[in-house]
Amino acid sequence: MFLRNAWYVAAWSSEVTRDLKQIKVLNEKICVFRTEEDEVIALEDACPHRKLPLSKGRIKGNTVECGYHGLTFDCAGQCVWAPGGGRIPSAAKVRPYPVHEKYGLVWIWMGNAAMADPEEIIDIPNFDSPEWGINSGDAMELQCNYLLMCDNLLDPSHVAWVHESSFAAPATKDTPLRVTKTETGIIVHRWMMDHEPAPFYKKVVEFEGNCDRLQHYEVRYPSHALIRAVFTPAGTGGPDGPLHEKTFVMDSYNFMTPVTETETRYYWFQLRNVRPDDEKLSRMMAEDVRHAFEEDRAVLHEVQIGMTNKQSPHIDLSIDAGQLRFRRQLEAMIAEEQMVDAKMDA
Ligand SMILES: [Fe+2]
Repeated sequence: MFLRNAWYVAAWSSEVTRDLKQIKVLNEKICVFRTEEDEVIALEDACPHRKLPLSKGRIKGNTVECGYHGLTFDCAGQCVWAPGGGRIPSAAKVRPYPVHEKYGLVWIWMGNAAMADPEEIIDIPNFDSPEWGINSGDAMELQCNYLLMCDNLLDPSHVAWVHESSFAAPATKDTPLRVTKTETGIIVHRWMMDHEPAPFYKKVVEFEGNCDRLQHYEVRYPSHALIRAVFTPAGTGGPDGPLHEKTFVMDSYNFMTPVTETETRYYWFQLRNVRPDDEKLSRMMAEDVRHAFEEDRAVLHEVQIGMTNKQSPHIDLSIDAGQLRFRRQLEAMIAEEQMVDAKMDA
């Protein structure tokens, strides 16, 4: 089940060109391309005649021509030419999807087009700030339901076992977690005081010795995560800590796009508050992050198989409180949306 009235990432902007391309979001096949004016267009990827995907056809100026019988559609999905010489049937149209480019990503609205407001796309305050560096983004296909990745991103504990060589430190095993419900999602966080920085961060923080570390794991509905890592010299962190001029902050943005019930396209990039123009540092961090996310991918693929085919009940632990709350609230939002849709259809 998916929330439909929401923005999802459809692709990196660089992946959408003048070539017709098929993407799949929430189980729907969609044809994306750019107009001659460089605007991104997204249309239902099925000609209404014999359902050949439009992405198998040809782009002609700002129209798409079906590769079977030449039916031609404009950017609004309206058929503007059909063979046979007669009138164009009124049902000769495909559904257009609202899209919007932001943060180098193409965002797509999957629900009622009248409700699509680009202002509701996640706000990333430091995205264009010259004080912040960016670890260039990437994407990967996950062989699991998108909510398993949302679970993972509300689960600061897993780093102790899944990311031993990068994000793990002894304190990540058993320091208690705090769960907060917000208007837009769930935050699970904890401060871990006075310990050696985890290997990935040890390479990038600009102070020596032990640290105080914040893990802030936040997922917003339907499936967008902000993972904030704060490292500050030991004694200067904590909820009321004075922090320090050498405090290191990394904001990791993660966007999960459901492809099917068991496939997800996972997009990400990170912003950091140190050495914004250091390309080498950006590359190193991007590579390390990709490596860590491959570790998640391997685990989540097996978890998907394990949970689908379980032969005995699974259990929940206290560390799962955040993800269970997130799932419950999202389920309620989906149920409400379906109820309203059913009323409108009646
Ligand atoms: Fe992870």
